[in-house]
Amino acid sequence: MKKLNIAIIGYGRSGRDIHTRLLKMLPEQFEICGYVDGDAERQEMIKHEMNKPVYPDYTALFGKTGIDLVVNASFSGEHARISKDLMEHGFNVLSEKPAARDAEEFQTVLDAAKKTGKKYYTFQQYRFSPGFIKLQEIIAGGVLGRIVAVGIQSDNFARRWDWQTIHENTAGVLLNNGPHYVDWALTLMGFPGDIEVYAVMDRANYAGNGEDYAKLILRAPGAPVVDLELSASNAYPTDLFHVQGTQGSLKGSETSFTWKYFKPEETSALKLDTRPLRNEKCEPLYCREKLNFYEETWNADIGGRNPHEYDFTEKGLAYYRGLHANFLNGADFAIKHEQVLLQMKVMGAAHAQNKKLFVK
Ligand SMILES: NC(=O)c1ccc[n+]([C@@H]2O[C@H](COP(=O)([O-])OP(=O)(O)OC[C@H]3O[C@@H](n4cnc5c(N)ncnc54)[C@H](O)[C@@H]3O)[C@@H](O)[C@H]2O)c1
Repeated sequence: MKKLNIAIIGYGRSGRDIHTRLLKMLPEQFEICGYVDGDAERQEMIKHEMNKPVYPDYTALFGKTGIDLVVNASFSGEHARISKDLMEHGFNVLSEKPAARDAEEFQTVLDAAKKTGKKYYTFQQYRFSPGFIKLQEIIAGGVLGRIVAVGIQSDNFARRWDWQTIHENTAGVLLNNGPHYVDWALTLMGFPGDIEVYAVMDRANYAGNGEDYAKLILRAPGAPVVDLELSASNAYPTDLFHVQGTQGSLKGSETSFTWKYFKPEETSALKLDTRPLRNEKCEPLYCREKLNFYEETWNADIGGRNPHEYDFTEKGLAYYRGLHANFLNGADFAIKHEQVLLQMKVMGAAHAQNKKLFVK
C-alpha cells in the first residue's frame, strides 16, 4: 500500500495530540516527514518527541519535494490564507476546521483548489463517529417514523481564557466546536439549500470577546427542525442526541443510545373525532391511549476503553482511512466542499444575528 508523506503545521492540541497520534496509528498508510511550528519550545519538543525536521514557518516547505499532503493545524484565523498559499505552491492540503472565517473566505479557498488542481480536504472527522453513523442507520431503518425534530446538545461547564475565546481569531464556540455539530445537523437535514437560521449567542465563561453560548434553530422544508446548543455554562448537560419521530424517539451519546417506538400496524389508524370525548356512561374523557412501545439500546463496542477516547480515536482513524482511499484511488469521500460551504453560511448567519455581542 502506498504511504502518503505528511508534513504538519502546528504541534498543539490538534497537530500533536490529534493528527500526529492518529497518523502514528496508521503506519501502513502514512508517514510524517516534517513539522512547522513558530514556537521555539514546541520546535524543541518536536525534535525530542518526533525526531523529524522542523521549520519555524510553512514557507520553508516551498520547493521541497516528496510531501504528498500538508496538514494545516495552525491557528484558526490563518487556515484559509495558509491553505491557499500552500496549494498555490503545489501542495495538497488537509485543513483543520474551521476551514475559513466565513463562507466568503472559504469560497476563495475552494477557488484556489479549483485553479491549482490540488487536493483540498477539511478535517470534519466527527462525520465518521461510529455513534453518528449508527444514529443515521436507525433513522434510515424507519422505526422512528418521519423525523420531526433533532436536538444536539454539546454542553459543559468550563471557563476558558485562551486564543480560542477571541472572536477576531476566527474563534468563539461556534467556530471552535460548531463545525462538527453544525455538520451533524446539516447531515441529518440532508444539506438543504433553503435553510432558515435563528441564532442566540451569549458569553458567560470565556475571557475573550467570543461567544461561549450558541443556540441555533435550523429549519428547512421537508427536513427535521434542529435545535443545536453549544454551552460552557451548563453543569447539568443532558443528552448529546435527542431525536423525535412520528413513531418514536431516541436519546443518547456518541457511544450509547436508547430508542423506543410503537408499530403503526399494531394500533388503529389515527382518526379525528370532534365530539367532546366521553366513555360509555357519557362521562368526560381525556384523549389517551396505551401504545405498545418497543425499546432498544445500542452500545458501541468500546472494548474497555474510555468512551470519549474510543469515539475520538475511531472517528479520526476512519477519516484518515477515507482520505487515503480518496487520495490514491479517487474513492468517494464523505466530506464534500459544498457541504462545508453550507456549514460556513449557517455559522455566518448565526454570527450576523448576534453582532452586538462582539463589540469590543
Ligand atoms: N478537529 C478537531 O477536533 C480539532 C481539535 C482541536 C483543535 N482543532 C483545530 O486545530 C487548530 C489548532 O488548534 P490547537 O488546539 O492545536 O491550538 P494550540 O494552541 O494547542 O496549538 C497551536 C500550535 O500551532 C502553532 N502554530 C499556529 N499557527 C502557526 C503558524 N502559522 N506557523 C507555525 N506554527 C503555528 C503554535 O505555535 C502552536 O504550537 C485550530 O484551528 C482548532 O480549531 C481541531
